[in-house]
Amino acid sequence: MDHDIKDINLASAGKKRIEWASEQMPVLAQIRDRFEKEKPLEGKRMSACLHVTAETANLMRTLKAGGAELVLCASNPLSTQDDVAASLVADYGIRVYAIKGEDNDTYYEHIEAAIDNNPVITMDDGADLVSTIHSDHSEMTDQIVCSMEETTTGVIRLRAMSKDGALKFPVIAVNDADTKHFFDNRYGTGQSTIDGIIRATDVLLAGKNFVVAGYGWCGRGLAMRADGMGANVIVTEVDPLRALEAAMDGYMVMPMNDAAKIGDIFCTVTGDINVVAKEHFQLMKDGAIIANSGHFNVEIDLKTLKETASSVREDVREYVNEYIMEDGRSLYVLADGRLINLAAAEGHPASVMDMSFAVQALTSEYAVQQTDLEAKVHSVPAQIDKDVARLKLASMGITIDTLTPEQDKYLQSWEMGT
Ligand code: ADE
Repeated sequence: MDHDIKDINLASAGKKRIEWASEQMPVLAQIRDRFEKEKPLEGKRMSACLHVTAETANLMRTLKAGGAELVLCASNPLSTQDDVAASLVADYGIRVYAIKGEDNDTYYEHIEAAIDNNPVITMDDGADLVSTIHSDHSEMTDQIVCSMEETTTGVIRLRAMSKDGALKFPVIAVNDADTKHFFDNRYGTGQSTIDGIIRATDVLLAGKNFVVAGYGWCGRGLAMRADGMGANVIVTEVDPLRALEAAMDGYMVMPMNDAAKIGDIFCTVTGDINVVAKEHFQLMKDGAIIANSGHFNVEIDLKTLKETASSVREDVREYVNEYIMEDGRSLYVLADGRLINLAAAEGHPASVMDMSFAVQALTSEYAVQQTDLEAKVHSVPAQIDKDVARLKLASMGITIDTLTPEQDKYLQSWEMGT
């Protein structure tokens, strides 16, 4: 079976990790059991470009149980768990193309390997697979029934393609499902980003000025968790509503030019480019720590930092590069500006990926049943969101109230007032 991974001998460690994650993914396990019996994806060639983690491995097991002919490649050069990749190949018979730390050429060779699978369904985290198919394999766009997109950045990119009339097959925005972004983006990114920063630096957060750039769902989660660790949270935003929300959530809100002067730790979660840039590096305090938890490594202008620093000391600690500025200040950049939660930690915890990947699995099942989806970005059917929420609640042993017939009727009527 063709594959490209770091070392197949890592498989036994990877298997333990996959099984450990599986314990926290009961919703996906239920779907897997049903897929095993019903085979809704039988014979469908699927290519997935996702972070190769223990949680993704459990999604791959589920899609394979459903009958899919699968290939998995990495959606980021630094996020692959090499032991998990090895176990997927050795223990689960799934073709994987991913090596932690792979260079850009290898990253794209791996995407090409996923395309060689000749997929009819694709799954993306950041839209690199869909974008490569459109740019370099346009002859394939007719055969692709549907693609699923996992992350905010990918959905933004795909909406831009759709707006330009460039999108040639339908895509379902899994990220936009409520059971995905309310939980995964907020609690998953919130916790795992703090985890990544701490694993990389071992700094105490209490009492530090922690600058969160961007107050989307990831920024909200990150600010909440940094606050919980005793940091003084500063939020920077460009959207007035989000800025107002951050202020009323109790955080300081100011432009990056002001935050740059007082921040001890900076973390970008905006999805945009050069959010921390030359003018900010010039203002930062000696010892400032700069990280990114957005999908792409574009949020910190590292090119300019490299040009303006007088020297760089690489790996002063694993995942930490020290940039020594001409005036003697040191700025510490984590994981080369790549998403810190997956580079230095293990990404979102399994319990939250349980819901995101349950949505992915159920949406794949829905996608193969559709014959006339338009080539645009679609929402996840509301029923899938409801089903996943119900299953997750049940797995947590939580029961909720139901409307009485009287309440139901009241909500549908307009006659009764004061
Ligand atoms: N994205 C963020 N965290 C992840 C994880 N643990 N597995 C797969 N994709 C992720």
